[in-house]
Amino acid sequence: MTYDINNKIILVTGANRGIGKVLVETFIERGAKKVYAAVRQVESVSPLVEKYGDKVVPIHIDLSNPQSIVAAAQTAQDVQVVVNNAGAFKGTTPLDSNAIASLEFEMNINVYGLIHMAQAFAPVLKANGGGVFVQLNSVVSMKTFPNFATYSASKAAAYSITQALRELLGEQGTIVLSVHPGPIATDMGDAAGLTEIAEPPSLVASGIIEALKNEDFHVFPDSMAKQIGGAYQSFAANVVEVNMSEG
Ligand SMILES: NC(=O)c1ccc[n+]([C@@H]2O[C@H](COP(=O)([O-])OP(=O)(O)OC[C@H]3O[C@@H](n4cnc5c(N)ncnc54)[C@H](OP(=O)(O)O)[C@@H]3O)[C@@H](O)[C@H]2O)c1
Repeated sequence: MTYDINNKIILVTGANRGIGKVLVETFIERGAKKVYAAVRQVESVSPLVEKYGDKVVPIHIDLSNPQSIVAAAQTAQDVQVVVNNAGAFKGTTPLDSNAIASLEFEMNINVYGLIHMAQAFAPVLKANGGGVFVQLNSVVSMKTFPNFATYSASKAAAYSITQALRELLGEQGTIVLSVHPGPIATDMGDAAGLTEIAEPPSLVASGIIEALKNEDFHVFPDSMAKQIGGAYQSFAANVVEVNMSEG
């Protein structure tokens, strides 16, 4: 099912900086009717409101606070496209003394936050004709980077949940996208020590829009992602995207 974001009502988590901010800007510039900029501090999207006026609607979501997600879904009843972009990163190896604490922190935001987002927004998307649910995963969902292994584990778990959502939300006509960037030039890219090889967040935005047109489930937007996506293509097509419960 090909999908055009033109004239659509979209919600983006983590909309105040990094990839999320560029997603908001790109969606509006590509014709979105309205974007709910979902953030922990609503004042943090004031620059976007100043730039785009009432096309940007600030809304409170803290992915570690399920009540905030439920409340946002009650407010944003007209949303047609949900992009769960917000994420948390700790540069922790499994051998670090704080490995378990880091993994718990990252799982809470990157995985439990995703589950709460899907639970709260699935009925809204259904009521609005199906729509789209986009999840920001990573190349580390497929390939662990040892220096941030706990983050990689959380993104692998998020990818696993995203695969389930593809089938389950597909039954109500919701398109699900799993986005797998490599190093992107944001605060998180810097924190991961990837500044030198990072590519612009605009690649993620155009990759999502292109995947919606092409009916792709996996999105590999930048150079490293495309390399991993190319190697992964056969497994994705013949295993991940096949419904194995049908004989
Ligand atoms: N940058 C990369 O190289 C890269 C590569 C692959 C995947 N990704 C993924 O892409 C997504 C965006 O990353 P980014 O690079 O743009 O990161 P970023 O620049 O560090 O921004 C992170 C965003 O997530 C928000 N956030 C953090 N914890 C939150 C919480 N508990 N509830 C709600 N929002 C929260 C932040 O809000 P505050 O301003 O309030 O902290 C911020 O808006 C993430 O899911 C990340 O894992 C990034």
